[in-house]
Amino acid sequence: MESKSKIYVAGHNGMVGSAIARKLREQGFGHIIQRSSSELDLRNQAAVNDFFAKEKPEYVFLAAAKVGGIVANNTYRAEFLYDNLMIESNIIHASYRNEVKKLLFLGSSCIYPKMAPQPLKEEYLLTGLLESTNEPYAVAKIAGIKLCEAYRDQYGCNFISAMPTNLYGPGDNYHLQNSHVIPALIRKFHEAKQHKASFVEIWGTGSPLREFMYADDLADACVFLMKNYNDKLFVNIGTGEEVTIKDLALLVKEVTGYGGDIQFDTTKPDGTPRKLMDSARLHAMGWKHTLSLKEGLKKTYPLFLEAIR
Ligand SMILES: NC(=O)c1ccc[n+]([C@@H]2O[C@H](COP(=O)([O-])OP(=O)(O)OC[C@H]3O[C@@H](n4cnc5c(N)ncnc54)[C@H](OP(=O)(O)O)[C@@H]3O)[C@@H](O)[C@H]2O)c1
Repeated sequence: MESKSKIYVAGHNGMVGSAIARKLREQGFGHIIQRSSSELDLRNQAAVNDFFAKEKPEYVFLAAAKVGGIVANNTYRAEFLYDNLMIESNIIHASYRNEVKKLLFLGSSCIYPKMAPQPLKEEYLLTGLLESTNEPYAVAKIAGIKLCEAYRDQYGCNFISAMPTNLYGPGDNYHLQNSHVIPALIRKFHEAKQHKASFVEIWGTGSPLREFMYADDLADACVFLMKNYNDKLFVNIGTGEEVTIKDLALLVKEVTGYGGDIQFDTTKPDGTPRKLMDSARLHAMGWKHTLSLKEGLKKTYPLFLEAIR
């Protein structure tokens, strides 16, 4: 990839796409192509074909997707399957037809089998049943990875995939019903501080272990892979560091400046006890994240305050 290369970032308004576009600009890549969903509906094959024929991007980051929490995934099952299959099929096929030099597709750690051993190694994909609530999303995402592999096998396309861990940071979604754990905790502690609540209640025992990465670190890894990785097997992107939900809550409490207590409602379910990616392959290539969880949370809280203003 050269500074003048034409680079299409699909999904540039999203948390991941915006971080990738930011990282590319930071590194001196000046020719970035981007379209919002209202300008280009990526489910529309004819529109995607016209766009690729006209713009002729040389590199593609495929960070557009229909994304949501458990409730949305489980409620809009047809949309999660259809939209994601269409978006990735249209972009990957158009990239092949228009001789894109390289494409990076984004999977997600939630598409590994529900009962896969921990930490999650790349070879565990497709070795067991999926979590039923997000099965349609996972099937679509697995199809995206397989499309990249098949276009490589049959047509020699240099299409690669990456599998990020849980992300947080700029552009995150703070909806009460539909957000991931970090934005949900930030909102909870912030509101408790505003209302001078004596305690914040957290579901479960606080003992489950989770892994998180700041979105800008993920973007850095994606650009690194685009520059340096050319193999068929997708690459896990994680920090390799785990935190309990309890310690995470304590960090968020500190960063938001909330002075009350934390109570754990142990009558509520804990969810999976441990979820960690094995990122040994990425680390062996020489890439590591830079931001600690605490530093990342410190950067994120002001962004949350801006987002709710
Ligand atoms: N967030 C995480 O924790 C996480 C973790 C692992 C992997 N990932 C992966 O990273 C990718 C991006 O996730 P994200 O968190 O950045 O999601 P996001 O914030 O919801 O962004 C997704 C973007 O996709 C675009 N999009 C959706 N449907 C579209 C359509 N029909 N046509 C054109 N554009 C469309 C949207 O564009 P507009 O805004 O213009 O409508 C949106 O900005 C996904 O593949 C996801 O699986 C995310």
